[in-house]
Amino acid sequence: MAEILEEVTGRRARRAIDENKPVPRETVDRMIEAAHLAASCSNKQPWRFLIGDSGEIRETLQEHLLGGNYWAKKAPVLIAVATREADDCRLNANRNYALFDTGMATAHLILQGTREGLYVHPMAGFDAPALKEALGLDDEIILITVIAVGYPGSEDHLSEKHLESEHSERSRMPVNKVASRSAFPFE
Ligand SMILES: Cc1cc2nc3c(=O)[nH]c(=O)nc-3n(C[C@H](O)[C@H](O)[C@H](O)COP(=O)(O)O)c2cc1C
Repeated sequence: MAEILEEVTGRRARRAIDENKPVPRETVDRMIEAAHLAASCSNKQPWRFLIGDSGEIRETLQEHLLGGNYWAKKAPVLIAVATREADDCRLNANRNYALFDTGMATAHLILQGTREGLYVHPMAGFDAPALKEALGLDDEIILITVIAVGYPGSEDHLSEKHLESEHSERSRMPVNKVASRSAFPFE
């Protein structure tokens, strides 16, 4: 029987990342390559990735994480993801695809990383205006996520709440709340 991909079922937004085990450059490069193979509207490829695996870029990304993402400061690799409207495939009826395409590419990156045995955890919890300024990004650039990447490690540094979530069941709405064969199930 066909099953859902192991990377899809096994992936979780985990936080117990090993700060002492480096992620090989080739592994990160494969994640970026997987992202870059994503589909995009008119093949615009609007995704852009900034890899912080050492030095100043990693430090800058670390410094702008919000307090709740303390655990991600230990990640050996942080990847910032951005896009911009100028690279958008803009169609009628409010259909703007830059974020959509960038999200699809990011999903590829996350699944490839999961396949490589990594925790790959996207975050919205960063000071976007300040980080944009620190990176010298124009207003038109949308800095959409910073992704923590690292191998599984000790849970010692996790808060009580995060420790619990590390072992929690996955929480999802029932599938019939999001998919239907009669009409869009918006409530
Ligand atoms: C766009 C986005 C932003 C997120 N931001 C954060 C964040 O700032 N901090 C955090 O700990 N988790 C963050 N998460 C992880 C989600 O909380 C997590 O994916 C969700 O609770 C579902 O859990 P699961 O990924 O383990 O299935 C984010 C996830 C996404 C996709």
